[in-house]
Amino acid sequence: MSHVMNTYARQPVAFVRGEGVWLWDEAGKKYLDALAGIAVNTLGYNHPRLTRALNERISSGVLHTSNLWRIPAQEAAADRVAEITGLDEVFFCNSGLEANEAAIKVARKYGHERGVAEPAIIVMEKAFHGRSLATLSATGSRKVQAGFEPLVSGFVRVPLNDLDAVRQVAEHNKNVVAVFVEPIQGEGGINVSRLEYLRGLKETCDRNQWLFMSDEVQCGLGRTGKWFVYQHAGFLPDVVPLAKGLGSGVPVGACVVGGRAKGVFKPGNHGSTFGGNPLAMTAVVATIDTIKEEGLLANAARVGEVIRGGLPRRDGVAEVRGMGLMIGVELARPCGELVRQALDAGLVINVTADNVVRMLPPLVMNEAEAREVLARLLPLLEAFLDKRAAA
Ligand SMILES: Cc1ncc(COP(=O)(O)O)c(C=O)c1O
Repeated sequence: MSHVMNTYARQPVAFVRGEGVWLWDEAGKKYLDALAGIAVNTLGYNHPRLTRALNERISSGVLHTSNLWRIPAQEAAADRVAEITGLDEVFFCNSGLEANEAAIKVARKYGHERGVAEPAIIVMEKAFHGRSLATLSATGSRKVQAGFEPLVSGFVRVPLNDLDAVRQVAEHNKNVVAVFVEPIQGEGGINVSRLEYLRGLKETCDRNQWLFMSDEVQCGLGRTGKWFVYQHAGFLPDVVPLAKGLGSGVPVGACVVGGRAKGVFKPGNHGSTFGGNPLAMTAVVATIDTIKEEGLLANAARVGEVIRGGLPRRDGVAEVRGMGLMIGVELARPCGELVRQALDAGLVINVTADNVVRMLPPLVMNEAEAREVLARLLPLLEAFLDKRAAA
């Protein structure tokens, strides 16, 4: 019996080797990875540049110092994150929920500074922000919250893509200090915000002096063909939590702030023992530099198009959604069994929100590999859909 706590329904496969977008299990079977460890392995596996940088860091013998001292690698990583986000200050942490927890604290502190004693944050139905008490309270899923009440207060929930709902809250709730949106909802089923909606939200934030907080933990870091989804909409948010793809497999998160949120956190307001340590920062620098040098933003847009364009539009397929290499196929009924069938066919995918096939491939995937994803997935999808049609 395993002593690993039973918090995940795991598939009975263990990947032990990787190269590019390919994985091998313990028995030596080869798989094409269209999931990247849920949007984490930006550069795929064993990318020479990342491997070399991490090896050099390990050989230096200093993996960790402390935030009590200057950390040059953290300064280098922060410069890069500031450049690609267009924002000003970066707090490094170790995961997505930590990045979001920091964002929520920034919003509350911002509110208190403006004389709001009980600051509230507008959040979205079906959003996922993490599993700490504050972030699960912000999350729009009863499944995630059930059993952990009392929830953290101070969140007002509205549907995604409904600007009127936000405007109504603005009229009636004077405690609101921020809007927190996951611009493409990942866990919730690849639900894409309309760009007009995002712009409208931003205008509403500006009119009310609220913070615009864009949770780009899953959708950010180049996956959609630009560094961040808000860049498709053409404005700058105040707070951007990041994690997942930021270190291409090394655990790291970041809460990036600018605009109205700049300068809100002061010494003593927040901290993390491990946050921004030299090992993680080496991964951040190598990841960002490689995305730039290898043109992976354009690659994500192009290769994503190949996959999306090849997915079936037919009876039983409710919708094909996504941007770049963040792709969802909503089916008319629950389809969890497809994950196991895909593994049997040597393909790694995921199913989220019960009936959405989700793909989040490494950004290094090329067009031929994308066509191979389709070649392995389509027969499974067709068989699944035909079975229903026949029933
Ligand atoms: C949009 C979003 N925010 C936050 C999180 C939480 O990240 P972590 O699991 O690293 O705490 C996730 C994880 O799936 C996510 O997709």
